[in-house]
Amino acid sequence: MSSVFGKIFRAATWGESHGPAVGCVVDGCPSNLELTEADVQKELDKRKPGQSDLTTSRGESDTVKILSGVFEGRTLGTPISMMVENRDADPSSYEELIGKPRPGHADYTYMAKYGNVDWRGGGRASARETIGRVAAGAVAGKLLETRGINVIAYTKQIGAVESKELLDSSMKGIQDLIYSNPARTIDASVAKDMEEQVMVARAQKDSVGGVVECAAFNVPQGLGEPVFDKISADLGKAVLSIPACKGVEFGRGFEFAQMRGSESNDEFILNDKKVSTKTNNCGGILGGMTDGMPIVFRCVFKPTASIGKKQKTVDVNTLSGAEIQVEGRHDPCIVPRAVPVVEAMAKLVLADHGLISGFIPRRL
Ligand SMILES: Cc1cc2nc3c(=O)[nH]c(=O)nc-3n(C[C@H](O)[C@H](O)[C@H](O)COP(=O)(O)O)c2cc1C
Repeated sequence: MSSVFGKIFRAATWGESHGPAVGCVVDGCPSNLELTEADVQKELDKRKPGQSDLTTSRGESDTVKILSGVFEGRTLGTPISMMVENRDADPSSYEELIGKPRPGHADYTYMAKYGNVDWRGGGRASARETIGRVAAGAVAGKLLETRGINVIAYTKQIGAVESKELLDSSMKGIQDLIYSNPARTIDASVAKDMEEQVMVARAQKDSVGGVVECAAFNVPQGLGEPVFDKISADLGKAVLSIPACKGVEFGRGFEFAQMRGSESNDEFILNDKKVSTKTNNCGGILGGMTDGMPIVFRCVFKPTASIGKKQKTVDVNTLSGAEIQVEGRHDPCIVPRAVPVVEAMAKLVLADHGLISGFIPRRL
């Protein structure tokens, strides 16, 4: 099982949903980066459950402890280990599901591959695992900040409701705006409609999917290594590794299929004697390397697998048909809580490529 991500800036996540704790180890972070638990906590608070009716009611404070790698508020260049205790685990509602895999979840594939599965709350396939990603991403984000790079993700779409607003780094207080509404969107005019989509699905004991858009601003030219370690390939892998993420597109993405080259090509221009492009259809990446324009990508999340509606499945122990109704605490829509996870994965990739290219030094 591969639980390590990255080449120089490496993050390993560990822990199961109902085990004593979850966390991560970050290896390869340059020394002398200012880092406190409050820096990491700020990011974890964005994905914390129970912040609105749109998310699971599991009551976790998700308080982080930094166990190693930081001394007197600055990184040592040694592994940074971070831990969050699971305090509100309640496996009782999962007992009913033993041997009866939830359709759409990872229960069956874990059973088939490993034969020994922590059935409590999805075990390793639970979104609790993404705590380690967000904690590691917080460190990567601090590193990127030292080079002026800023990464922002928000909810682009929930169900049929889409935000038409364009993400722009000059938007004032953009992070506050995103986290001021439970849908985690930048467009106040559709935030309520997005919420409604989730509330209706939830009332029907069902779930709904959606899209997260992410952009990185002030990115230098030349991050990304052709041909297999293109920055688009690494970002693609990063977001597709997030549970329930089922697709990713860069720039105009799947719209390219209906465009002509004359429309899709980004014309080169001179901006204060610097080469730039007039448009950003390619999402800031050409040939797998950043061109200096903002990196822009979107990723789609499927509707939450665990739903209260009756569903047919099988009992793998008795080899007979079975019916389940998933009780317990679940997100009726994954998207709002996936927003900080997408942001964290993008930061991990950018920090890693910053170090690979030499744009970020090994020692600050
Ligand atoms: C932030 C976040 C929250 C999630 N919450 C739930 C949940 O409450 N219930 C659930 O069944 N799946 C939830 N998931 C998705 C499952 O973890 C995921 O569907 C499962 O591991 C199967 O993997 P796959 O969908 O990638 O195939 C969540 C995912 C993320 C990223």
